[in-house]
Amino acid sequence: MANVTIIGAQWGDEGKGKVVDWLASRADIVVRFQGGHNAGHTLVVGNQTYKLSLLPSGLVRGKLGIIGNGVVIDPQALLAEIDRVRAQGLTVTPETLRVAENAILILPLHGALDRAREVARGERKIGTTGRGIGPAYEDKVARRAIRVCDLAEPQVLSDKLDELLLHHNTLLAGLGAETFDKQALLDQLLEWAPKILPYAEPVWERLDEARRAGKRILFEGAQAVMLDVDHGTYPFVTSSNTVAATAASGSGMAPATVGFVLGIAKAYCTRVGSGPFPTELHDDIGRKLGERGQEFGTVTGRPRRCGWFDAAMVRQACKVGGIQGLVMTKIDILDGFPEIKIGTGYRINGRAYSYLPAGQMAQAAAEPIYETLPGWSGTTRGARSWGELPAEAIKYVRRIEELVEAPVTLLSTGPDRDDTILMRDPFEG
Ligand code: IMP
Repeated sequence: MANVTIIGAQWGDEGKGKVVDWLASRADIVVRFQGGHNAGHTLVVGNQTYKLSLLPSGLVRGKLGIIGNGVVIDPQALLAEIDRVRAQGLTVTPETLRVAENAILILPLHGALDRAREVARGERKIGTTGRGIGPAYEDKVARRAIRVCDLAEPQVLSDKLDELLLHHNTLLAGLGAETFDKQALLDQLLEWAPKILPYAEPVWERLDEARRAGKRILFEGAQAVMLDVDHGTYPFVTSSNTVAATAASGSGMAPATVGFVLGIAKAYCTRVGSGPFPTELHDDIGRKLGERGQEFGTVTGRPRRCGWFDAAMVRQACKVGGIQGLVMTKIDILDGFPEIKIGTGYRINGRAYSYLPAGQMAQAAAEPIYETLPGWSGTTRGARSWGELPAEAIKYVRRIEELVEAPVTLLSTGPDRDDTILMRDPFEG
């Protein structure tokens, strides 16, 4: 049995909840390895709807959840999410949730800096979630971040706060934002400590034991490849690596344990926040996709920008992200369109490209090159086998497989968990 890693293949919000829940129900352990509470997805199990940001999805299915070292953890957000799902009847204890002792903490000053900088950027804002993700990762690589294990060492906390505040209060004051008081932050951290520390451990060791015992591990990515800090549409990206390789470094496991890599992509494309989006539609078709697909952010409630499927971009995401099979979601949203376009490449300043080059000006100038396919008059909604799909819908999926150079492993045809066509079991490798 292989392990499975699931990552987004576009700009996030690909409709991961349902698929992750299905995969989680078949795994023994679910691991988050990057990002923080900027992520968000909805899991519907029985008559309960769970909105998760930071907790690994497997908890909903009674599986062991692990938050790896690559995640940035806002203690307040984590504790609030635990309380929320507990109130819905879930059991979250140190037996069911483990947190890497070397994971980085997000403090209130990170959110404050994130938001103050966005205001200062004005028109050129990134459109972050404002949750302090970027500033927390900055502190990590600058070697001044507070980690989960520091909560057990008050003197270390105190010393680190001196360094952190020297840096952050200078910046915040320069941006005209309120500064932070050391004692208040220290008190806050010491209040969180006994609530967070029971979950903390070297998770790499538990994961190594699990691997040797032949347990199935699901690595649950957040955000998506085009938001990767190296491979995405920089600087309009998140501050972590979202590619499958991060599942190893973000949890403390060997690269080979990442297993089969599933990339999740909508049958069209959406994006929240700023940044290039070559196939974006500003017309009625774009509006229709947004309305039908209910394209509003889970975390921020912002309306998502919508456009045609960009096969050149997803192909690129498959290559750099290590994606071996695609999960295509929301194909039913395309039902009834007379024709459907697929972006196959870009024209930039008169030159054709089969990929999105890295330059910011080039990305902003990229015009999609389209291939037009006939739509379908029947419905894909709720289809549970290829035979139930209109012929044109099958052609659409097959054409995408050719263009992105990856097979569609799973096709999701509606919100119901069983509205799914499975081509291959990812846990079989
Ligand atoms: P940050 O991760 O809050 O710094 O935001 C950076 C960019 O990533 C912004 O464009 C956000 O909208 C985007 N982003 C962050 N998390 C998600 C997500 O879970 N889904 C979609 N976009 C996201």
